[in-house]
Amino acid sequence: MKIAICSDHGGYELKMKVIPFMEALGHEVTDFGCYSEASVDYPDFAFPMAEAVARGEFERGVAICGTGIGVSICCNKVRGIRCALCSDVLSASLTRHHNDSNVLAMGGRIIGVETAKAIVKTWLAEPFDGGRHEGRIAKISFYDKAR
Ligand code: RB5
Repeated sequence: MKIAICSDHGGYELKMKVIPFMEALGHEVTDFGCYSEASVDYPDFAFPMAEAVARGEFERGVAICGTGIGVSICCNKVRGIRCALCSDVLSASLTRHHNDSNVLAMGGRIIGVETAKAIVKTWLAEPFDGGRHEGRIAKISFYDKAR
């Protein structure tokens, strides 16, 4: 799978561990920055990454900041993006099955590396259930297109 990833300084350390983990799982990962632990503003990285996913250049995106909250707010403002902030594996699984989330947000200051790896592995593997969830996603898309 082609995956876009980004972080700010608060998510940089976790991102640098998640990238080789995803590559080892066989995914092609493109890093939209940041590229060091120097202080930056998360919108400068979250918006371009999410827009690239929304344009269809990547199947999925991963966004990491200190809490995961800032990047998730940004990503969810991009038309076509359904970003899920996850700190546990069950949420990562359910957001794929129910929300067909296309961006995963995590907090580098909230969860540990092993939890993040388990979340990422689950989120990349689990399918969308469709069925009764299709109509709910359609309502989100309708709102997204109308605004
Ligand atoms: C940066 O200090 C921090 O505010 C950011 O990483 C994130 O947690 C924002 O939501």
